[in-house]
Amino acid sequence: MIGRQDVAVVEFPFETLTCNEISFAERDERYRLLHEWPEPTYRHPSGLRMIWKYADVREVLDAATPGLSNANSLDPLVGYARIVATPRAIPHFVRHLVPPPAKATANLTDDRLHKRVWNTMAGPSGHFTISPGDRPHRAAAMVEHFHDAVRDSGYRPGTHLDVTALSMTYAARTCGAAVGLPESDWPHVAAWSGAQSGLLGRVMRGRELADAVAALGWLFTVSGRAVREGRGSAATGFARRLRDAGLSHRIAVSAMANSLAAGVHTVSGSIQQGVQRLLTDPDRAWWDLLADPEGSGRVAAKILQLDPGLVAWKRHVKTPVVLRSGTRLPAGPVLVMFAAANRDPEAFPDCSDLQGTGKLPLTFGFGRHVCPGKSMATLAVEVFLRQLRELAPEAELVPEASRTTRRSDLLFSGADITITW
Ligand code: HEM
Repeated sequence: MIGRQDVAVVEFPFETLTCNEISFAERDERYRLLHEWPEPTYRHPSGLRMIWKYADVREVLDAATPGLSNANSLDPLVGYARIVATPRAIPHFVRHLVPPPAKATANLTDDRLHKRVWNTMAGPSGHFTISPGDRPHRAAAMVEHFHDAVRDSGYRPGTHLDVTALSMTYAARTCGAAVGLPESDWPHVAAWSGAQSGLLGRVMRGRELADAVAALGWLFTVSGRAVREGRGSAATGFARRLRDAGLSHRIAVSAMANSLAAGVHTVSGSIQQGVQRLLTDPDRAWWDLLADPEGSGRVAAKILQLDPGLVAWKRHVKTPVVLRSGTRLPAGPVLVMFAAANRDPEAFPDCSDLQGTGKLPLTFGFGRHVCPGKSMATLAVEVFLRQLRELAPEAELVPEASRTTRRSDLLFSGADITITW
């Protein structure tokens, strides 16, 4: 853990470091310092203006205030111009991403069309909605994904278990199955969706950028195939539901690709950071609560509040805006730090207390674009943590395997976690 004396008070707590590069304890401290920062916004070297106060984050995520837009939410951090100026990226771009994919979810600004897409995913009988009656069999399917992922990892009793890799395989299986992607594609889903996630929050160039564009392209190409094959199927899979809602092929492909990309690193990052927090506690209080069905739900919800795998999201200020709190935002892109807002002492007086009270955490966004995978993701995190506790109640972190350098990422966050028992 870092102390006050270790962080120069004059330096903005997230000037150079991102959550992905630090442990949960350092994150706790830097978020605490962030909420002591004298200004409510900060112009980050990336060019994004950071905001973190609960009320501001909620209003900007909602994007209903005139002057605020969600149109840039899925734009690559380096901009399209750099992709087009990267010779190695161009063949992949042309092969998979021309004509450009439709806007169907987070960056769609046509509210009526968006509502149709969103309802198909998360309306009362939406494809990702989990009703109380559905919960037991959805959880059972996730338990099976967990054990299949352990088997695929090649784990043998007495050896170390790489929780980071396991959580990615698990999340890819869970999301691949949910959208109806053929099983043969599941092993590639983590890499493909990692490309979309990476392009959103990381500064890439050269070969790395070209590889990410190629993987993103495959995500759309494979989603296109799955939509074509699934639209006519007798079973009401995701593709059939999108067709039945009268949505075009292009919109359906983007809805599928975006859902696949959205679920994998968000769920797996939350798991990795959660396991790090739970196993670092010498009392193992939250870890042991996982053995209790009611306790495991509370622990998963708290992990998703404090340590989500996605920590921030982008919005665009088209014309200068004064938010309801009085915070002023000049025109330009904004980084909406919702994981930071989840710790705003004005909204959560005791955020690290499991019984703590407070407002609705903003982990899954707010307003029209609120995450349609929210109930699925919450259950997926809970099931994984419970199963891991059941498999390895005496688990210990392997410190030397957990000290690798992770990359700077303004949006996604995870941890390298290996355990033994
Ligand atoms: C811990 C896991 C997850 C987190 C933290 C998370 C977070 C978010 C957030 C903050 C948004 C709002 C974006 C915006 O306002 O523009 C969002 C949107 C979205 N999420 Fe999730 N998500 C998670 C898991 C999932 C899963 C498992 C799926 C797929 C089944 C999913 C699919 C989507 C989609 C399609 C959108 C776009 C919604 C729209 O604009 O209508 N997410 N998510």
